[in-house]
Amino acid sequence: MSNATEVKSPNTESKTAHLTLPDGQSLELPVVVGSENEHAIDIAALRGSTGHITIDPAYGNTGACSSDITYIDGDKGILRYRGYPIEQLAEHSSYAEVAYLLIWGELPTADELSHFRWLLTENEMLHEGLRNAFEGFPPYGHPMAILSAMINASACYHPDMMQLEDDEHMPLAAAKLISKVRTIAAFSYKKSIGQPMRYPNPNLSYCANFLHMMFSIPYARYEPEPEVIRALSLFLILHADHEQNCSTSTVRMVGSSRANLSASVASGVCALWGPLHGGANMAVIKMLEQIQQTGMPVSEYVEKVKKRELKLMGFGHRVYKNFDPRAKILKKAADDLLSTLGISDPKLDIAKELEEAALTDEYFVERKLYPNVDFYSGIILNAIGIPTNMFTVMFAIGRMPGWIAHWYEAFKESGRICRPRQVYTGPNVRDYPAAK
Ligand code: ACO
Repeated sequence: MSNATEVKSPNTESKTAHLTLPDGQSLELPVVVGSENEHAIDIAALRGSTGHITIDPAYGNTGACSSDITYIDGDKGILRYRGYPIEQLAEHSSYAEVAYLLIWGELPTADELSHFRWLLTENEMLHEGLRNAFEGFPPYGHPMAILSAMINASACYHPDMMQLEDDEHMPLAAAKLISKVRTIAAFSYKKSIGQPMRYPNPNLSYCANFLHMMFSIPYARYEPEPEVIRALSLFLILHADHEQNCSTSTVRMVGSSRANLSASVASGVCALWGPLHGGANMAVIKMLEQIQQTGMPVSEYVEKVKKRELKLMGFGHRVYKNFDPRAKILKKAADDLLSTLGISDPKLDIAKELEEAALTDEYFVERKLYPNVDFYSGIILNAIGIPTNMFTVMFAIGRMPGWIAHWYEAFKESGRICRPRQVYTGPNVRDYPAAK
């Protein structure tokens, strides 16, 4: 594996920001500039010099780190992995190649890619002890709970994932996680529907192998259409990273305590689960089904959203104040896949109607709310045959390389433990009754 990822520090401009505080103290703070000319005020010296901290609930203005991995310009709707536009990667790359790019910083050579694919195949099996652990879960246990538990537990069977004291162990640890997460996901699905688990087939590609483990049954091998494999690969590529989102920040935060890779990534799965983050892909399909089943006109749904009785799931984003480029790609992919497979899904029509209604409505326009990655992705997953309660698991499979890349970047920095401060607003000191 090449090791092109040298963690760079942002440039410190000769300019400084001048801060004057109400008590008369003043401070010159360095302005740092990223490679896309993003400016940030470095407040590292603030508390030590003045006793003040900054407060930024939900971190809307806080840069928690500098990173070389993914660039987003939310106003222009730009997303790039290691400098490569998402549109080009979506069209020309494969999930394995994108995973390699994210973690090691450069596109692999043909030999490097084939070695990485070999590592993925070599590590596709689960230890039988881990496979047996599935028996301990109830039949309808949520697959996200099973996924996070199993990823965490996998370190028990692969202690090397807990000993990443040097770069040498990283390729194998990364391949193990990226490969096994799909086996764990498929096994949890089989468990939930009471079917026997299907072992991975080393002759299949990453995506075809996952579909085989999901949908083959004894004596009947599932043979997906090439378009289905391609759609799944596209889905995974588009979900592979998104800089400092809630789950990735969680992975970096947990990793900052020097927690091992699988423990850190398992916590990322938990953060992703919520409906305001990765869980939104399930919520979108439920919303579309509800509109379909009740026959509620789209205009009525939009009115309810504006009255805050409902939320338009799959819309809005902390960073994008323009089209999420992934949503554009997925909308076209949903159209293409459904037409190739000859599927007519009324949910796609409802989604398009909702999008049109929202994009021409003052409420959404003034708040700059656009469809995000989750708005159309569920329609593709439905067409592939993935059940709704597995949608967020699919997101987690896709996000694995991003989480690993961020964990690795932070690990190499050997930075301080992440530990935000607070402004305390509780009671002042008071005596415990018995002490009076
Ligand atoms: N439907 C209706 N109104 C919305 C929506 C929405 N989907 N999203 C934001 N708004 C409104 C808010 O109510 C707020 O209105 P106000 O200023 O009148 O109070 C305004 O738009 C700004 O929204 P915030 O809540 O400040 O946006 P924030 O950056 O905190 O949240 C989030 C972003 C969580 C994505 C939000 O837009 C949302 O809940 N969307 C629906 C859930 C969703 O699709 N999540 C997936 C995001 S992508 C991902 O994580 C993979």
